[in-house]
Amino acid sequence: MKTLTVDLGERSYPIYIGRGLLGEPQRLLPHLAGRRAMIVSNETVAPLYLERVREALGEVPHDVVVLPDGERYKTLEVMNRIFDQLLERRHDRGTTLIALGGGVIGDITGFAAACYQRGVAFIQIPTTLLAQVDSSVGGKTGVNHPLGKNMIGAFYQPRCVIADTDTLNTLDDRQLSAGIAEVIKYGLIRDEAFLGWLEENMERLLERDPEALGYAIERSCRIKAEVVAADEREAGQRALLNLGHTFGHAIETGAGYGNWLHGEAVGTGMSMAAEFSVRLGWLDEASRGRVDRLLERARLPLIPPAELTVERFLDLMAVDKKVLDGRLRLVLMKGIGQSLVTGDFDPASLRAAIEACLSRR
Ligand code: NAD
Ligand code: GLY
Repeated sequence: MKTLTVDLGERSYPIYIGRGLLGEPQRLLPHLAGRRAMIVSNETVAPLYLERVREALGEVPHDVVVLPDGERYKTLEVMNRIFDQLLERRHDRGTTLIALGGGVIGDITGFAAACYQRGVAFIQIPTTLLAQVDSSVGGKTGVNHPLGKNMIGAFYQPRCVIADTDTLNTLDDRQLSAGIAEVIKYGLIRDEAFLGWLEENMERLLERDPEALGYAIERSCRIKAEVVAADEREAGQRALLNLGHTFGHAIETGAGYGNWLHGEAVGTGMSMAAEFSVRLGWLDEASRGRVDRLLERARLPLIPPAELTVERFLDLMAVDKKVLDGRLRLVLMKGIGQSLVTGDFDPASLRAAIEACLSRR
């Protein structure tokens, strides 16, 4: 097992990464705030892994909420079911919420923890690759709004992250690829050597070689932990973790939540960001070729969905948390392993880049 730390002073917390951690009481129990807990999971993950977590809790009194599965249920209405149960069962400020599932369950449970009685403890037990390398770390929590992805939420850190890599064995191939998109992101934004490693080892990841997956998760979490420690509330460099996300969130919202997986939309979004970066003269063609080739090898789509026009793209992209004083800012590439956040571009050139990506259809 590897243990990394997200260094946030008094709110620092460990990320445990390894095989078989789900059933280990010693990972979970020291991080409970008080005597009670509530596990939040969904109808897909609960039948697979809930009992293991309940066993790890042992004598700790706890309740369970099982939510419907899917991005379309990442809403305030569904989050309210957690509050209903917490109140009906008289949970007080000493309780701990335990998120058992992918990024949807982690984001919604974290936000519920941030809100319930103005804040109770929570623990992340991510069970998708995407959640293990990204969403469970760093304290971004929230839900979607029909008009914009992740638009309602809070920065709220967990007490610990328990990433049991054995859970990835039950993930379907499409979800695995979606998680790999976020892994590729870390290489593109700040680690060319890691990108090279991914180019060497993509097939091992797709075959779920435990050693390769363990390394990719550890390297990704290390980068994320460093970025979050330096800029918890995204005043600066944390925004780089959003490479491809402004295009990607537009795809997710425009296609209807759940039709494109988050990681798939981010993959296409990174290809679109590369296209725009080339047009701005910041990225050379050879580097763009590396980006697209690696995304393709990860079995990720590069072509935006047919129903999105350039107008709709621009409209959806205007609802983005990086918009500042009405001005759209994007994460773009200045090379492999080098990215920047900028609003310094001509809107007509952005339109042309989107049109070029749409014409790949
Ligand atoms: P998800 O939570 O929808 O999980 C994907 C699917 O896999 C679901 O059907 C789920 O039930 C199933 N599943 C989960 N674990 C499984 C397992 N071990 N075996 C079999 N099936 C399993 O999606 P995701 O890709 O994990 O997360 C995407 C969400 O995360 C999006 O809402 C995105 O906005 C959010 N996100 C948040 C952050 C953040 O920093 N908070 C970062 C990236 C993404
Ligand atoms: N997933 C982007 C971030 O955590 O900042």
